[in-house]
Amino acid sequence: MVRIAILASGSGTNAQRLIEHFQHNDKVRVVLVGCDRPEAGVLQRAWDLGVPIYSFNTAQLRGGAVQKELEAQRIGLVVLAGFMRLVPRELVRAFPDRIVNIHPSLLPKYGGKGMYGEHVHRAVIAAGEAKSGITIHLVNERYDEGRHLLQVECPVLPNDSPESLATRIHGLEHTHYPAVIDSFVRKAI
Ligand code: GAR
Repeated sequence: MVRIAILASGSGTNAQRLIEHFQHNDKVRVVLVGCDRPEAGVLQRAWDLGVPIYSFNTAQLRGGAVQKELEAQRIGLVVLAGFMRLVPRELVRAFPDRIVNIHPSLLPKYGGKGMYGEHVHRAVIAAGEAKSGITIHLVNERYDEGRHLLQVECPVLPNDSPESLATRIHGLEHTHYPAVIDSFVRKAI
C-alpha cells in the first residue's frame, strides 16, 4: 500500500477531498495529516474522517522531526494541501519526486514567498488578469518551482472579488487534485 501523508496549514478542503478519494482504496490511503497550526480547520476534518493527526511547529519542521516522523510512518508520498511553510531541503532530499504541491495560480505567475491563498487572488485581480487557474507540481528546494504535473485555467471575471475567485479556484482544485495524485501514484510509485 502507498501511504500518503498530507501536510496542511488551513481550512483543509483539499485535504478532505483527498482523504475521501482514497478512503476505500486498498492500494493507496491517506494515513496521516500533518499540520503546523493548532487552530487550522484541517484538524477537525481529519478527525471527523478518522485520519491520525500529527501536529508540529516550525522548529520541528526545520530541525528534522517531521522528516523522522514521515519516515517512521513509512510514507510513500507527501501531498501538500494548503501548506504554508517552505519544505526544508533535507525533507525534499529524503522524498525525491515524492512531494506534490498545489498552488492557486498559473505558475510561474503569482508564485514564490508570500504568495499563498488569498494573497494570490488579490494580486491576480489587482493586475487585471483575464485568467487564473491552478498548478499541481512536484516540490523542489525553492518555492513553487518543481516540475508541473497539471495546469488548469479558469476565467477571472470583471466583477470578481478575491473570495469569488478563490471559490472558482477551489472548485478546480477539488476536481483535479485527487485525480492527479491518483494517476501519479499509479504511474510513478
Ligand atoms: C488552496 O487554494 C491551495 O491552492 C492554496 O491554499 C488553499 C488551501 O485551501 N495553497 C497555496 O497557496 C500554497 N502556496 P484548503 O485549506 O481549503 O485546502
